[in-house]
Amino acid sequence: MTPEDFKERFRSLKLMITALIVVFTMVLGFVGLLIYDPNFFEERNTELSEILAEGTDETGFVEGDFKMLVVANCTACHSAKLVTQNRASKEGWKNMIRWMQETQNLWDLGENEEKILQYLSTHYAPQDQGRRVGLKVEKWYQLED
Ligand code: HEC
Repeated sequence: MTPEDFKERFRSLKLMITALIVVFTMVLGFVGLLIYDPNFFEERNTELSEILAEGTDETGFVEGDFKMLVVANCTACHSAKLVTQNRASKEGWKNMIRWMQETQNLWDLGENEEKILQYLSTHYAPQDQGRRVGLKVEKWYQLED
């Protein structure tokens, strides 16, 4: 084998390896595309928010005395979710209301304050805090092969 032959072989070997790498990358990319489901996270989020909203109606609050007072006074500046994702005692809710009154221009709730506090501390009390029950998984996502 002359040095020329050797060079020639080496060159074709290099070419083959490069081609292999290119094909390998393409196959990987294709498999990735097949596996990747763009709706995966979206569907999951919808399910999660449905579970979180359990027991609430279209106002975003659970049924109870003075609910509509809370809807009227507590959803003007932010969503119901911001309220219902919190849990607190009556005192804790009062503090949040005071904080909003002092810093966020929440109005004086007058005689409604007591009723609003009663609703919140009854239905969004601290004992509901902590981990929720495990998610009920009705549909597992199977990666197609
Ligand atoms: C005048 C506007 C306004 C009204 C009305 C209002 N809030 Fe708020 N509230 C705010 C703002 C602004 C924030 C801060 C939002 C943020 O951080 O993105 C907030 C935040 C909150 C938070 C989250 C606090 C935290 O630490 O995460 C809770 C809970 C809350 N409000 C409850 C209520 C309740 C209950 C009512 C009804 C009594 C109410 N809000 C009415 C303006 C208001």
